[in-house]
Amino acid sequence: MDFSISQFEFRQRPPVTKPTSEFLTKFSEEGIRKMVSDHYDLLINSEIKHLFPRNEEALNKAKQNSADFFIQICGGPTYYLENRGQPMLAKRHAAGSITPEARVVWLQCYIQVLSKLELPEDVIQSFWNYLNVFSFWMVNAKEDYNVRFDKE
Ligand code: HEM
Repeated sequence: MDFSISQFEFRQRPPVTKPTSEFLTKFSEEGIRKMVSDHYDLLINSEIKHLFPRNEEALNKAKQNSADFFIQICGGPTYYLENRGQPMLAKRHAAGSITPEARVVWLQCYIQVLSKLELPEDVIQSFWNYLNVFSFWMVNAKEDYNVRFDKE
């Protein structure tokens, strides 16, 4: 398994390859929801916890939205489209300041979760490659301007 984190260069938005649909078919919707939940539980105790919702209701909503998105991107039901509309994720992430360092922390939390999954290596690798590249798109700040996400 190669969980290397590509070095970020500013304003770089490399082309993204979606994860293999086997990530959903082999892992199931429940598996993806549990993975996302575990990732958020690491994030809210990480160096970038200030970016994420504090109260349980908002946190559960965030988990649901993110899991809906990953299920959809892997070729599953269009839950995200139905609940939130077009993803436009870079735009949604512009609500808060995400630095290159925040991206690294976010990805490191995923490494912890992905390294525990019992799935074929190529399936996990495909999901990791997607996160590693698409996460470039969410970086929008050179330094932390202390801009908080609007927690609705
Ligand atoms: C680069 C590091 C990233 C950071 C620091 C980050 C942080 C955040 C934060 C603070 C939110 C708002 C609170 C919440 O709803 O959780 C959010 C929402 C979300 N993020 Fe990220 N994110 C990153 C990368 C990504 C990537 C690579 C993806 C997809 C592959 C992604 C998918 C989402 C989705 C689907 C939402 C929910 C948007 C909505 O409100 O409908 N994020 N993220």
